[in-house]
Amino acid sequence: MPDVDELKEGKKYYTDTPQKTEGFFLKGSNSLDWGMKNRLGRIFNPKSGRTVMLAIDHGYFQGPTTGLERIDLNIMPLVPYADTLMLTRGILRTIVPPSISQSIVMRVSGGTSILKELSNEEIAVGIEDSIRMNVSAMAVQVFIGGEYERQSIINMTRMVDQGTRYGIPTLAVTAVGKDMARDARYFRLATRICAELGAHYVKSYYIEEGFETVTASCPVPIVMAGGKKIPEKDALKMAYNAVQQGASGVDMGRNIFQSESPVAMIQAVKAIVHENETPEKAFDLYNTLKREQ
Ligand code: R5P
Repeated sequence: MPDVDELKEGKKYYTDTPQKTEGFFLKGSNSLDWGMKNRLGRIFNPKSGRTVMLAIDHGYFQGPTTGLERIDLNIMPLVPYADTLMLTRGILRTIVPPSISQSIVMRVSGGTSILKELSNEEIAVGIEDSIRMNVSAMAVQVFIGGEYERQSIINMTRMVDQGTRYGIPTLAVTAVGKDMARDARYFRLATRICAELGAHYVKSYYIEEGFETVTASCPVPIVMAGGKKIPEKDALKMAYNAVQQGASGVDMGRNIFQSESPVAMIQAVKAIVHENETPEKAFDLYNTLKREQ
């Protein structure tokens, strides 16, 4: 305990210097509570305002996806280059060391497999486990236009309510059915519904025409999902276009872990997201790093 006899009168009040009241750097997030902002600030880099999320949660409905057969061997070497890992609690507990410094976005919806209707999800992880595992956000799949559209929206709003109680943000993941048009109109609808109903940020696919209208009409940050594997150069161009057209980063899986060189690819994506590198230079970086391996 400090010795009260030696207590000196304080002088450093700086009465001429008003206390700074800073705004929060992330779109639509300024009215959130401290814990929410702190967690979002662990996902999104406050300097660039963007994130590189490495999505490796595919196994929750499709088992050992190509590239994710051995997460300990295939994925752990990529982790140092990501801001955030998006994964299931099963993989987090069994493979990922708790000393990890990257933030965690945990998949909390599930209950379906590729053998049946995918939109029939429920909440599959209680909020207590998200708190216990110190996650920075919870991810819920939302199937706008899907057979179980309403149920999936309510799954999301339930997590928004529960997460708000404990300061944990919810990421709404827009899932598009096979037969639906992947166009700006659809993604404006899907992302806006998620944001209006409380999602703290939303994951959307990139589209060639009108992606900037999707980001403009969504009042919270959008992160771009990678989608199915395409050539590295094209995936880098897509990531570049997405961030230049208003995305606050990427949440990429297959285009990183199914790349010929995943470690080189994630570093090239990072250069695009955080340093505004051009796709051409990022592709050169990819090739250089790939050769050095
Ligand atoms: C799929 O349902 C998972 O949620 C993935 O996180 C998502 O699809 C992003 O991964 P990818 O870039 O492979 O599409």
